[in-house]
Amino acid sequence: MIALPTPIRPTVAEVDLRQLAANLRCVRQAIGSRVGMLAVIKADAYGHGAIAVARLVEGLGVWGLGVATVEEGVQLREAGVRTRVLVMGASFGRDHAEVIGRELIPMVGDPGDVEAFAVAARAAGRTRFGVHVKVDTGMSRLGVGEGRFDAFLRRCAEHPSIRVDGLATHFACAEEQDLSATAAQLATFVRCLERARAMGADPQTIHAANTAAALRLPAARFDLVRIGLGLYGALPSAHVPDPGVRPALSWTTRINALRDLPAGTPVSYGATFVTTRPSRIATLPVGYADGYARRLSNRAEVLLPGAAGGPRRVPVVGRVCMDLCMIDVTEVEGVAVGDAAVLLGGKGKLSVAPEQLAAWGETISYEVLTSISKRVPRAYPGLADAELRQATGQAHPAVVALR
Ligand SMILES: Cc1ncc(COP(=O)(O)O)c(C=O)c1O
Repeated sequence: MIALPTPIRPTVAEVDLRQLAANLRCVRQAIGSRVGMLAVIKADAYGHGAIAVARLVEGLGVWGLGVATVEEGVQLREAGVRTRVLVMGASFGRDHAEVIGRELIPMVGDPGDVEAFAVAARAAGRTRFGVHVKVDTGMSRLGVGEGRFDAFLRRCAEHPSIRVDGLATHFACAEEQDLSATAAQLATFVRCLERARAMGADPQTIHAANTAAALRLPAARFDLVRIGLGLYGALPSAHVPDPGVRPALSWTTRINALRDLPAGTPVSYGATFVTTRPSRIATLPVGYADGYARRLSNRAEVLLPGAAGGPRRVPVVGRVCMDLCMIDVTEVEGVAVGDAAVLLGGKGKLSVAPEQLAAWGETISYEVLTSISKRVPRAYPGLADAELRQATGQAHPAVVALR
């Protein structure tokens, strides 16, 4: 546990980089050594800290890193990350020259972007700037549809400053029990790939699979799989076989107030919880502005790992506020101000997994992890000061201040 700077708001997200590395190895074992891995580190590495995760996985032999926006790619380059960075979000705005200058790899599916990259590449004196073409095979979000695919490739071929290095798609339903929609997407993608080859294009890096598809559908692995959630130790659904990954992030806080209340006392905004017995209610300095969703009101549980007689689960009672929430500790002996409370993490049966918090909040683990706000400092236990500064870069200066 790190030394906390203040007893007032000791909420922190600890990221176990060793567990992240272990997760990467588990996925690697499941998919085999011949398939490349793109570590998806968009949205600040699903809340784990993009620079720290980038530095870690860079040393573990990944093909590259996946981000959603040009800004995320630039942040990595500014931090000195040199490995391949694929910008998957396709919102290039006026940043085509920036993408080229920073040696980022764009995923394109819009003819306007091809033109803009061709112009910017020529201006930068580049003869063969590499792009990955994104095919929309059924997600209806980004990419070129099958009907316009040939024309799109011809357009790319008209520009000597552009080279199609990769061909990609993204699955909409790979975590659903029924894989028929994914099989149909895959068939469309394979048709496009064959057409591309017949037209003389020779994309070297073919990729389609996210965590769910990579673990469930060997035929979708091609040259590269794009792994996000699995790297962070969660699974997209119960239909995805667990290769042995474990959550790498624990979110903890400490009790900062305790009160004994008689039966019939309302707790928090709206009085949605009223004590039914003499109750001991503890206040935690974490709320929805930290990413502990208001939907968790009267639904979630937190762990008290230091409870007398062993770790205990206790319920969140009343509405989660912006900066605070309350838990009912009536049944736990000897609870004191300053005791640790685990919102996410823990060990064995007495743990709160991202999937569990997601179920309480009626959402998905992706949203749970990416919602932990910037106000919550990330800590990387086990790293020495110099490594810590290097690992965290500018992303979470508060972490350095914590030490
Ligand atoms: C294009 C693309 N590829 C891969 C991923 C990684 O997905 P997952 O976290 O399920 O592995 C995402 C994440 O949403 C994505 O948008």
